[in-house]
Amino acid sequence: MLAPSTNSIQELREQFLAQLSSHFREREPLGLYDPINYILQIGGKRIRPVLALLSGKIFGDDDLSQTMSVALAVEVFHNFTLLHDDIMDDSPIRRGQPTVHERWDVNTGILSGDLMLIQAYQHLASCPNVAAFPAMLAAFNRVATGVCEGQQYDVDFESRDDVTIEEYLQMIELKTAVLLGGALEIGALAAGASQQDADHLYAFGRLTGLAFQLQDDLLDTFGESAATGKLTGNDIIRNKKTFLFLHALDLIDQDERIELTRLFTTSPINPANKIARVTAIMEKAGIPAAVAELRDKYQAEAYVHLNAIGGSGQWKKVLGLLTESLLGRES
Ligand code: IPE
Ligand code: IPE
Ligand code: MG
Ligand code: MG
Ligand code: MG
Repeated sequence: MLAPSTNSIQELREQFLAQLSSHFREREPLGLYDPINYILQIGGKRIRPVLALLSGKIFGDDDLSQTMSVALAVEVFHNFTLLHDDIMDDSPIRRGQPTVHERWDVNTGILSGDLMLIQAYQHLASCPNVAAFPAMLAAFNRVATGVCEGQQYDVDFESRDDVTIEEYLQMIELKTAVLLGGALEIGALAAGASQQDADHLYAFGRLTGLAFQLQDDLLDTFGESAATGKLTGNDIIRNKKTFLFLHALDLIDQDERIELTRLFTTSPINPANKIARVTAIMEKAGIPAAVAELRDKYQAEAYVHLNAIGGSGQWKKVLGLLTESLLGRES
């Protein structure tokens, strides 16, 4: 088994990007293929494919011949969800560039996204480990269904005023955490791991994913657009019922609660004042520290599962390092 180097995460990312280039098509109709090339080429942290490849390394797929197709499948699937998510969230920028529906139009975002979902399945089906394929497919279907359910809850919550923190946590588990868990689980299955080990990796990824979405929500309000590549304040504009909003309601006094609740029923044409006021209320309530605390609690719980599995201890350490760098991330 090959030992990891200090640069292992970067090396895995580069190996993945070399394979991703084979995905690009100079094909017609350009209105269908160009947006796919665009979204996959403008950047991204490539977290999910690196997670899948790390599963491979942990379970002895040294040359990544079994897990690379899973890495491609999860990244193409993730980027498909982003095309549709940006339409649903009315987001103007992603990775510092215009979103697909801004640069082209909404119909383009829908159809190019649809094709990417098909392409994700094509990548999955090209995994050479045929014996593992039924279990991989079942896991992928479960994950993809979960993401759609989570996205629907997220949108439903925009117009509800009685969302609980428990409901929010279930929503982020579905829309985000299941895919981080799935990347690890399906990568492990492709590499020949037992279902039990794959399940532990899923559980590790799920808890990491909850922490990851909490950090994403924190950055949406308190991050810098130059770092995140997204429009700061978009969750406030959309009245998203994040932990930031829901927990602030628990911490503030009655007058502020009335004000914050009212602000989250409005959609002003110029949202600058709304964003400034909501951010100030959250900041005064100590929300950034509260989010960090919950985020770190999930990450600590995740390690129980990483410690429970077999495989390469050295590569498990690299997986731990990757998740830690994700949670302090600024983009
Ligand atoms: C964005 O995911 C969507 C969420 C689940 C928060 P990432 O933050 O992984 O986006 P990229 O791929 O690095 O741009
Ligand atoms: C995205 O959640 C989850 C999926 C894309 C499935 P967000 O809506 O918070 O992601 P960003 O902030 O736009 O990247
Ligand atoms: Mg979004
Ligand atoms: Mg969204
Ligand atoms: Mg977000």
